[in-house]
Amino acid sequence: MLIDARIIGTGSYLPKRVLDNHELAEMVDTSDDWIFSRSGIRQRHIAAPDEFTCDLALQAAERALESAQRNPEDIDLVIVATTTADQVFPSTACLLQERLGIRGGPAFDVQAVCAGFVYALDVAHRYIQTGGSKCALVIGAETFSRILNWKDRSTCVLFGDGAGAMVIEASDSPGIISSHLHADGAYKDLLCVPTGISTAYDQVLQREAFTEMKGKEVFRWAVSALGDAVVEALEANNLTEKDIDWLVPHQANIRIIQAIARRVDMSLDKVVVTIERHGNTSAASVPLAFDEAVRDGRIRRGQNIIFEAFGGGFAWGSMLVKY
Ligand code: COA
Repeated sequence: MLIDARIIGTGSYLPKRVLDNHELAEMVDTSDDWIFSRSGIRQRHIAAPDEFTCDLALQAAERALESAQRNPEDIDLVIVATTTADQVFPSTACLLQERLGIRGGPAFDVQAVCAGFVYALDVAHRYIQTGGSKCALVIGAETFSRILNWKDRSTCVLFGDGAGAMVIEASDSPGIISSHLHADGAYKDLLCVPTGISTAYDQVLQREAFTEMKGKEVFRWAVSALGDAVVEALEANNLTEKDIDWLVPHQANIRIIQAIARRVDMSLDKVVVTIERHGNTSAASVPLAFDEAVRDGRIRRGQNIIFEAFGGGFAWGSMLVKY
């Protein structure tokens, strides 16, 4: 018999430094008007030079534990979704585990770029379902600003740093209901950092490992794949959009979010949108948005929520959750 899992607490963290579009326009040839009209972004948070992904993850994790009323010793599984790990190894999850004073249970990173959090939540859910974990900490954390070319206006205006966390626990009633994950590596060149440890470590050391993107193609693909993934989550559970209280989408572009809401006939009033203030925080974007809406009282216990996310790979997916 599979064991159900519920989200029992959430937390998030944004670095203090805010970089708005006007300040960016002094760095590259762009404008607040261009960025806002094309993406819906007004500002993003940027980690301090001595602030790393694990620092962001720690803050979000502590807040999630507090809201779950659980102690670090209750956690028997730590998964961090990140593209921007502190070190080549150990994993950011192991670094975080040590800082939280958790010992012994499995801890590992998941790399699915902007889809990382839904992948990580799916893995944690499966651990709990099969009895491998009773209480898991799942985090999306990124210092994406470190892999941006701050001279490339077509990418640097879109991303930001942040972290979001959830505590997931075995439960008598269903919380995480279904997940629908996909990937297609045939599209690896449309959104990537083309260099890395094994291929061109010298470029990484020279801080020349930057995000590259064919924006128009990524846009078209994201709209179509995410629309399909949301429909898949509805159909798999015999639900319609009327049964869903909130869509918590990956925050990449307001126009992508609007297109998906239109595709499933969902009013934007039922969509959690943070992109204007956060930009695209990659693996952190879904748990950050979810935590904000839980804390401000929009998302309430018993409601049906759909998460969706899309990113480099391509890797994407959706999940249906009863909060
Ligand atoms: N400021 C001003 N001009 C810019 C610019 C900027 N920051 N970035 C690019 N441009 C210019 C380009 O050089 C290009 O100029 P050209 O036509 O003279 O060559 C032009 O703007 C492109 O404009 P447009 O075709 O209207 O852009 P767009 O509508 O495709 O919007 C994106 C561009 C990047 C916002 C959009 O394609 C997008 O959001 N794609 C998906 C990105 C994404 O979400 N990625 C992450 C997924 S996880």
